[in-house]
Amino acid sequence: ATVKAFRQALLTWYDQEGRDLPWRHDQDPYHVWVSEVMLQQTQVQTVIPYYENFMANFPTVAALAAAPEPQLLKAWQGLGYYSRARNLQRAAQQIVTDYHGEWPRTAAGLADLVGVGPYTASAIASIAFGEVVPAVDGNAFRVFARLLMIEDDIAKPRTRQTFEKIIQPIVDPKRPGAFNQAIMDLGSSYMTAKNSDPAHSPVKEFDASLRAGRVTDFPVKTKA
Ligand code: ADE
Repeated sequence: ATVKAFRQALLTWYDQEGRDLPWRHDQDPYHVWVSEVMLQQTQVQTVIPYYENFMANFPTVAALAAAPEPQLLKAWQGLGYYSRARNLQRAAQQIVTDYHGEWPRTAAGLADLVGVGPYTASAIASIAFGEVVPAVDGNAFRVFARLLMIEDDIAKPRTRQTFEKIIQPIVDPKRPGAFNQAIMDLGSSYMTAKNSDPAHSPVKEFDASLRAGRVTDFPVKTKA
């Protein structure tokens, strides 16, 4: 009963208050993928105009695969980490050439693309293809560590799998993409790293660390 009530509180809030972002206007895997790669090291507000411009220049995966490198790097100028742009194009070429334009539809399959790590693979699989998998980025680590008082050290590589196992049965099987993006929005509003406001969050009744008065103890993270 608790898991269902949690999903309902989260998704009701997301439907009403979730951010209207350009890559959320449809479930096209190309749109989801480009936005996720841009968001890896860059804030949402910065990414928005870059994303719009990128889609105007390279509207499809085939257009990106065929783009001249100078044009690609120019569209990336200001975002930094140019290897992200180069990997993006190499993966686009993989999809066109190796997959004949057909996207892998699971996180496991998507992880074979150049530059697509476990988080990005799960984000694309859940948002674009409805696979019921958690997308565990920094937001999800923080949100679930606090909600469930998970003591595992998020600096340790193995901890991702621990979180994935814990979160998997909580993901809404009907709306996995919305569930994951709702967690992202929670992590950038009521449950931020600093100045968070968990007492007013839409899932405050499900927040164990809030109840225990220990919000700032989570997530547990050792220094390198
Ligand atoms: N950060 C990473 N992915 C995101 C998404 N899809 N929406 C908002 N913020 C994000």
